[in-house]
Amino acid sequence: MLLKATDLHKRFGGLQAVSGVDLTVGEREIVGLIGPNGSGKSTLLSLLMGIHRIDGGTVRIGDTDITGWPPHRIARSGMSMMFQHSRPLLQQTVLENVLLALLPDSMLNFRFSETLRGRARAILGQVHLTDVADRLPGELAFADLRRLELAKTLAAQPRLMLLDEPFAGLSATEVREFSTLIRTMRDEGRSVILVDHNVKGVHALVDRMVAMSSGAKIADDRPDRVLADEQVRRVYLGSGATGAAVAASQTSSAPILEVADLTVRYGKASALDKVSLTARQGEVTAIVGLNGAGKSTLFHAVCRLVRSTGTVSFDGHAIADNTAQIARSGVVLCPEKRELFGDMTVFENLRIGGSHLPTADFRQRIDFVETLFPRLAERRKQNARTLSGGEQQQLAIGRALMMKPKLLLIDEPTLGLAPVVLDLISETIEKLRTSGELSLFIAEQNITFALRHANSIHLLEQGQIVWSGPTHRFVDEVGHKVL
Ligand SMILES: Nc1ncnc2c1ncn2[C@@H]1O[C@H](COP(=O)(O)OP(=O)(O)OP(=O)(O)O)[C@@H](O)[C@H]1O
Ligand SMILES: [Mg+2]
Repeated sequence: MLLKATDLHKRFGGLQAVSGVDLTVGEREIVGLIGPNGSGKSTLLSLLMGIHRIDGGTVRIGDTDITGWPPHRIARSGMSMMFQHSRPLLQQTVLENVLLALLPDSMLNFRFSETLRGRARAILGQVHLTDVADRLPGELAFADLRRLELAKTLAAQPRLMLLDEPFAGLSATEVREFSTLIRTMRDEGRSVILVDHNVKGVHALVDRMVAMSSGAKIADDRPDRVLADEQVRRVYLGSGATGAAVAASQTSSAPILEVADLTVRYGKASALDKVSLTARQGEVTAIVGLNGAGKSTLFHAVCRLVRSTGTVSFDGHAIADNTAQIARSGVVLCPEKRELFGDMTVFENLRIGGSHLPTADFRQRIDFVETLFPRLAERRKQNARTLSGGEQQQLAIGRALMMKPKLLLIDEPTLGLAPVVLDLISETIEKLRTSGELSLFIAEQNITFALRHANSIHLLEQGQIVWSGPTHRFVDEVGHKVL
């Protein structure tokens, strides 16, 4: 057995985040770790890696007891971790980021020898980043940033890799490519613990699956058996509804957002090239496409966060000139990076969203948001920074809803959310749609989700709209490109 963790415990204040978990990983084994948002998956990985102090239990790598070791020593014993959020050094090139990960932790030998450079280049080659080795991380597409994180993880030459949500935000094609990389790493003799909410992606890759709920392990078996487990279905998978496309995909209501010839240039390259589209009142409009296609740029341009040419009108009038006025007029953006106030509590973040509302409205709105996301009610006093990935996502959407938007633009609404939470969001979207009070414009990698809810879909490729139409025509006409 390569890894053997026994009876692990971790408490944060009054919360038992990990409770009596046993976990083993064999040589060349890929183990999937699934469970609801906040069930303790990332915490468990941090305990193995020595990032959080273990309250109880033991961790062994091979014959060595590494319990209580500091992270750099654990890294040398053969374990390394890819975090849920990419955190590259922004002033260093892609190559330098990998070089720094290769350096021995003494930092005394702070010279990038040719041997080290060669090794860094070889690693970049392995993850297919050779072409962008001399760029800054800020210029990389999202999927490439995830590859860079994987490259840094590989630098430690680990025997066991802990991967926390490597698929989040990747398109179906990118997930397959990333899975191929992970398989190659296993073939080189490494083992992997894979945490991800892309159940299909995890299932396709792993040898065994472990499920957690409320800090405890609830299943540990062959993937098909774990996914069929009654408790796993109830607490995590939910209905798994893939549902048909919405019935009302005939669009007839008035336009709420009209975009014409919207163009954004970064230097010589155009990130958005004469994009024209209409989103309609009370409908869900989806924009889909690979990472780097320009979806976030489109949202940023609509909200005047980047310079653009072309026209944008909201509710029949030219949209305001600056972001704050735009938000006041009812167009609210929930950005891909969430931008929560990390040192403020959950409640304070929500309060900022609803700060313009009269008291009675505010109460009603808080009730609505906390009913939608019960976890936010349970954690009112917790600092946003310490929330789990999926809890932060719920807070970001909750805060945007507190602003009572007329048009809500959400960049990747399903990012990092457990299937059961998607069920909740699905229900809410349908309720909001029938009430007609809110129009939604979503940028989505999760095509299944977009198909279920959108009235109309726009497909973006390299800054241009290459297909627009009602949802029911999407699969037949362009499904092969993205599914
Ligand atoms: N420093 C902390 N202080 C208080 N609570 C914390 C802290 N760190 C984590 N938690 C809580 O511990 C629980 C487990 O968090 P963890 O990040 O392990 O969840 P997760 O299973 O990875 O969820 P997700 O799928 O959303 O990423 C969460 O409810 C989280 O809010
Ligand atoms: Mg997590």
